[in-house]
Amino acid sequence: MSGNNLSSQYYSAIAIEHFENPRNVGEIVDADIEGQVVNPVCGDEVKFFFRFEKTEVGQERVIESVSFQASGCPATIATSSIATEMLRGLSMTEASQLTRSDYAEAVGGLPKSKQHCSVLAEAVVKQVAANLRFKDELSRKDSS
Ligand code: FES
Repeated sequence: MSGNNLSSQYYSAIAIEHFENPRNVGEIVDADIEGQVVNPVCGDEVKFFFRFEKTEVGQERVIESVSFQASGCPATIATSSIATEMLRGLSMTEASQLTRSDYAEAVGGLPKSKQHCSVLAEAVVKQVAANLRFKDELSRKDSS
């Protein structure tokens, strides 16, 4: 199938390298939060685990470490892998501003038929950011 071929005709050297040696794979056992998204069309699925640096109450969370588990195509694995490297050290606001194009560009671009695959990394970060906002809002209400 076009695009599932790992050939350098379809994928950049960076994408192939990240697919073959994905970074930060697995679960962070003491993660502060995790997020999971599935592409309903193809069934590709990613789960990301986040741990944050210690912050004072009211300070913005900064990502100390992030890892992932994925079941999916080479583009999903490669963009998730590079996403974990790009996200470390960012605040959640900065992390939420990264888009699928940023992840796709970071792996040297994706074949046309695989452009959509990088959306999973963007979607999981946005899901986690939204859940954190909700959690913060609930704890503000609880303490007022
Ligand atoms: Fe659907 Fe990769 S083939 S996300």
